[in-house]
Amino acid sequence: MSDHPAYTHTVSFKETKSPNPDWTYGQGVDTTEEGRKWLEGLQGGFKTIDTSVEDPRKVYGLMLSGIIPRPVAFVSSVSEDGVENLSPYSFFNMVTPEPAMISISVAVKEGAVPKDTARNIKATKNFTVNIISEPWVEQANMTCIDAPPDIGEWALSGLTKEKSTLVKAPRVLESAFSMECELYQAIDILHPVTGKTNNTLILGLVKYIHVRNDVLNGRGVADPGRLKPVARIGGISYAKISEGYQLGRELWEQTGEDIQKAVGDKSKI
Ligand SMILES: Cc1cc2nc3c(=O)[nH]c(=O)nc-3n(C[C@H](O)[C@H](O)[C@H](O)COP(=O)(O)O)c2cc1C
Repeated sequence: MSDHPAYTHTVSFKETKSPNPDWTYGQGVDTTEEGRKWLEGLQGGFKTIDTSVEDPRKVYGLMLSGIIPRPVAFVSSVSEDGVENLSPYSFFNMVTPEPAMISISVAVKEGAVPKDTARNIKATKNFTVNIISEPWVEQANMTCIDAPPDIGEWALSGLTKEKSTLVKAPRVLESAFSMECELYQAIDILHPVTGKTNNTLILGLVKYIHVRNDVLNGRGVADPGRLKPVARIGGISYAKISEGYQLGRELWEQTGEDIQKAVGDKSKI
């Protein structure tokens, strides 16, 4: 890693045109130079993996590399005895906007001590999820260390605790987007063959959102160039989000006629 070039900090979010702005209804991938290059990859064929016989570690590595980029939940939780804990989780997403709900999946390793995050959330039923920004990813990343229970990850990280409005778990002051959550349901995922629990799915109701004013745009939502969120990709790699493009959602009522004219009978099922 030491021979890698220095990091380029995201300054703003650059908006570009979409990859193929000239695309029209029904047009195949082979109509652009980039598309044709992409299709050349078909010549190498596919590797098809049967997850019921493949080594689970290989399946894990493959899924980690293919299901990307993943957002990262930086979870603050508190044990029944009041011990505070902080850890990153990338099996994380929004579940429903109404009620506001998120999910995190915590691994349960056989023979290993259960992760503090799941144990704490099951016991005290509250936590905060903090979005990590580029300037402090090192501080956040180090909290995934398997420190003994009497070592506090907050102090090791150098991050600052901020009292939450409702829940007992503090939020991370350096985070520009934090959510105070209450446990909705903790679901132990049973392996259909072994019957063992390998993961606990945490569903959390988002009770409060704290968003820093300077990351909001004129529409009152977070601007990715200002929030500078980190994303998880395969293995131990992270990625950043500094470029993007818009693609509209079409309405059949408005464009259906044009689509049918362009595609003809091929669109009929
Ligand atoms: C970016 C990142 C994402 C992670 N995502 C997960 C995850 O989704 N599920 C999980 O069980 N562990 C995940 N881990 C590992 C946990 O953070 C790690 O096991 C941690 O020690 C758990 O801490 P705890 O016992 O304090 O909860 C991730 C680690 C990193 C660095």
